[in-house]
Amino acid sequence: MSVETNLESMSDLVSLCKRRGFIFQSSEIYGGLGSCWDYGPLGVELKLNVKDKWWKSMTYRDDIDGVDAAIMMHPLVWKASGHVDAFNDPMVDCKECKSRFRADMIDLKAACPECGKSGTFTDIRAFNMMFKTQMGAVEDSASTIYLRPETAQGIFVNFPNIQSTMRRKLPFGIAQIGKAFRNEITPGNFIFRTREFEQMEMQYFIKPGTQREFMAKWKETRWNWHLANGIRAEKLKFSDHPSDKLAHYADAATDIEYEFPIGWGEMEGIHSRTDFDLKQHQEYCGKNLLYVDQADGNKKYLPFVIETSVGCDRTILALLCDAYRVENKSDPDNERVVLKLHPKLAPIKAAILPLVKKGGLPEIAEKIVADLSENYKVEYDDAGSIGKRYRRHDEIGTPLCMTIDFESLNDNSVTFRDRDTMVQERVSIDSIRQVIRDRLKC
Ligand code: GAP
Repeated sequence: MSVETNLESMSDLVSLCKRRGFIFQSSEIYGGLGSCWDYGPLGVELKLNVKDKWWKSMTYRDDIDGVDAAIMMHPLVWKASGHVDAFNDPMVDCKECKSRFRADMIDLKAACPECGKSGTFTDIRAFNMMFKTQMGAVEDSASTIYLRPETAQGIFVNFPNIQSTMRRKLPFGIAQIGKAFRNEITPGNFIFRTREFEQMEMQYFIKPGTQREFMAKWKETRWNWHLANGIRAEKLKFSDHPSDKLAHYADAATDIEYEFPIGWGEMEGIHSRTDFDLKQHQEYCGKNLLYVDQADGNKKYLPFVIETSVGCDRTILALLCDAYRVENKSDPDNERVVLKLHPKLAPIKAAILPLVKKGGLPEIAEKIVADLSENYKVEYDDAGSIGKRYRRHDEIGTPLCMTIDFESLNDNSVTFRDRDTMVQERVSIDSIRQVIRDRLKC
């Protein structure tokens, strides 16, 4: 019986991600760029799988449409949403070492946590977290636009378009996946808090007064989504926002938190946003955004909104942390690092391994690869000993390895090895697709 331990330190995961091609530091050959990360060949597959799973769970149902709004939006959007005036962190600088801190995160009466000097903090200043840029050739305040700090506003401004073109009645939702940018002051912990990240957001438009009911429904739905991705329930918890800590747009909010090696951290926010955003946009754009409720005597009102907002990168971090296991840690001869990712999310679904590079084995393997590649991301791997190849695929979370050996020439079969149990079984080449299908279903 092997003894299994969880990921103990984030640096072990960072190192695996780099070593195996999941995630690299941005612009690494230039020394890197603070808190920006590039997804390598395996990371991008994992990310696409996560987005695909979220997208299908949201839009392959009859009450939610998708949208893909532009990152650059009219600057008034951010005035209306409150981000120009209220998307601020209270900051102080240490006059001695020039380090910057969030004023609410440190004791301002104590010494600077960086240089240890006392009485060196500046007055508290508000620091807006939106990145500004210019649109067009002239650089003046009229041409200032922002990189969006959340994808949600691209949904709100499209509410009238989507409601009318898709002939939607309440309740209905709009879902979007896309990049968001925040000039975070205290980024870090790998991809947990970065300055460029991806969000998967859904706004569910409802009749005012029904927000408690829909909040409860969406909390349950989103919790179950994380469980269906294979995250262990004991590593998840809800954390309600106290009423005095609610964001400017919310009348209730809950986070789904995951227990990272750095402690519990928010992975997803579920917010009851009232009609705050639509009301603001209606005021700033001067257009009528009212919904006409035919089911209620043609009453006109602004819908309320329940928002589910999950970071794609944070989800990936939680999935990687949760999947990372070390077996037999105190026994160097039998130690095994394995990423027990849900097979549906694993970057490579199956590895096809000819035992040697001759004797007709590569030809059989290539034929299997060509056949499976129509539907699955698989990998042909003939480099190194079979043991080393198994270890590599364990570390990148490949659920199935199949070895083509000399027996295969006679019995038209291959040896399947399961990532989690390491159990091996002989499978006829004609049944390979079925075995993969079954493994991906779990
Ligand atoms: N539209 C609501 C909204 O943006 P939020 O709580 O600020 O709410 C939602 O962000 C999610 O986006 C977070 O739960 C987190 O997963 C992700 N997120 C926010 N800031 C992030 C950052 N700097 N780096 C990575 N992910 C971030």
